[in-house]
Amino acid sequence: MKILNRPLRAAGLASLVTLAALAVGVTLPAWAAPTRYEAESATISQGVVESNHAGFSGSGFVNTDNAVGSAVQWSVTLPSAGNATLTIRYANASGANRPADIIVNGTTVAAASAFNVTSAWTTWTDKSVTALLAAGTNTIRVAATTAQGTANLDYLDVEVITAPSETLLSRGRPATASSVEDATLPAANAVDGSTTTRWASAAGVDPQWVRVDLGAPSSITRVELNWEAAYATGYRIEVSADGSAWTSVYSTTTGNGGTDAITGLGANGRYVRVYGTARATQWGYSLWEFDVYGTGPSVPPSPSAPPSPPTGTTPVAINGQLRVCGVKLCNRYNQPIQLRGMSTHGIQWYPQCVNDSSLNALATDWNADVLRVSMYVQEGGYETNPQLFTDRVHGYIEQATARGMYVIVDWHMLTPGDPNYNLARARTFFTAIAQRHANKTNILYEVANEPNGVGWPAIKSYAEQIIPTIRAIDADAVVLVGTRAWSSLGLSDGSSETEVINNKVNATNIMYTFHFYAASHGSSYLNALSRAADQIPMFVTEFGTQEASGDGPNNFTQAQAYLDLMAAKKISWTNWNYSDDFRTGAVFTTGTCGTGPYAGTSRLKPAGVWVRDRIRTADNFPTG
Ligand code: GCU
Ligand code: CA
Repeated sequence: MKILNRPLRAAGLASLVTLAALAVGVTLPAWAAPTRYEAESATISQGVVESNHAGFSGSGFVNTDNAVGSAVQWSVTLPSAGNATLTIRYANASGANRPADIIVNGTTVAAASAFNVTSAWTTWTDKSVTALLAAGTNTIRVAATTAQGTANLDYLDVEVITAPSETLLSRGRPATASSVEDATLPAANAVDGSTTTRWASAAGVDPQWVRVDLGAPSSITRVELNWEAAYATGYRIEVSADGSAWTSVYSTTTGNGGTDAITGLGANGRYVRVYGTARATQWGYSLWEFDVYGTGPSVPPSPSAPPSPPTGTTPVAINGQLRVCGVKLCNRYNQPIQLRGMSTHGIQWYPQCVNDSSLNALATDWNADVLRVSMYVQEGGYETNPQLFTDRVHGYIEQATARGMYVIVDWHMLTPGDPNYNLARARTFFTAIAQRHANKTNILYEVANEPNGVGWPAIKSYAEQIIPTIRAIDADAVVLVGTRAWSSLGLSDGSSETEVINNKVNATNIMYTFHFYAASHGSSYLNALSRAADQIPMFVTEFGTQEASGDGPNNFTQAQAYLDLMAAKKISWTNWNYSDDFRTGAVFTTGTCGTGPYAGTSRLKPAGVWVRDRIRTADNFPTG
């Protein structure tokens, strides 16, 4: 929610230190035993390699200059994101403690961390911190914060302690087979997610295989097979980097059909196949499903992948995993859709409005497609108790999922307005959310609610840092990026949508957000949204029929003009807000959330009646 006349904070980005060429990185296996990085092989700022005090590892240690900012920086490359224990070995017999910042990827994870005196320069000791590392190259820097410089530094050990959660890599990916029994039983039927469609090979011939292309080199942890009556007694699971040279990672001669879960594989490859060597029957080999799980880079389902049939009538059952197609939001049939729903108010203030009954009303009386979970970061929100608020969001996600609704996980940064201020918190939070929910198809990540007092380049830079954190774990989710001046596309700072159109975030499968309040934001805002939506993917994650404070008189005429535009251009929206706050934009009568009823209109303010009527109308979700 935007507050008018909020004093703008100067856009004071911390100046970024440009780093010298990094030491040669080593690629760590995921969640392996510690890997050692010697200090003498790292990048040294103000310091020298020495070997005059015994007990060091490698060929020496680093004696930095006794100056503020003297530093050693290591480069650590990981195949996928994960939490890691960083252990730094040091000695300090100088007589003074030598605090230093430990900085991971530009973010200080331990400020002025103690590197206290040890009994001698030959007495080495360990200092450990835990930090989230990203997929790819990470920088880990130890930088002195006092004129004493750093302690003598020997090495950095990195131990990845949590693997990113497994995801299903094979669903909807291209599949081929050695043969098919007939044209109605193709290989694709084994990876379509449906247990009523199957692949079957030609009868009576060995061997036969079915294979899937995961689309990218992947770390494969588990394969699940769901056999039809024509099962294999003998088969192998094989992997390949190129689709021609195969390595067997599992084999059996005692298969008994049904479902086989083959776990703990630890294999690497892009292609995976089931290679049948002995049949249980006189027929061929037939699989209802062939699922490959892993942690490797995955890619969104290819546009040509055959969608599996809906198994229900909820928005998620019909539309499945969403993706950005051109400037639209598309469903599993690659058809543009519009989602309509509600945003919560701040979940630190109004959890009483998000309960079983109110969510039932939202799903089945309001017929909402989407719930936006608005988790403030400051103002008594996430930063005060990260675990509590993360758990609260987990809970709301499960409740929305059970009702077949999409969920926007809203990182409701607002004050301060520079999203970079909360980057480290955002990484921790979104990692936890993605690890828990990556296998769901209904999560959209909104990474910056309303940036303000900060220019678009800073917002773009933030987005380009947080998006890879999420994608390392949840590769195919749509990410929503806030825009300048309270997500007004810059208009409330006197700018325009062109600053985004001409300088897009360097990421795919993302949309930009626009927020409007109809009694404050007239046709110039509406026209900007209209122009922008023709050129970049837009999602309205907040709007009100009243003023920008979320309060004051409603302007339903202007609000309807926006809704007509959004319907015509299939711009999805969530309205602010599903609470009983005293302001006119909170849909429920003040103070009624404890008891309800939530369905119907008896407890709704005028804005609530108006927006409920506009969410309830039938959806138009193309399935062809
Ligand atoms: C001595 C010692 C160095 C150490 C330095 C210091 O010169 O030999 O290893 O780094 O003191 O106090 O910084
Ligand atoms: Ca020194």
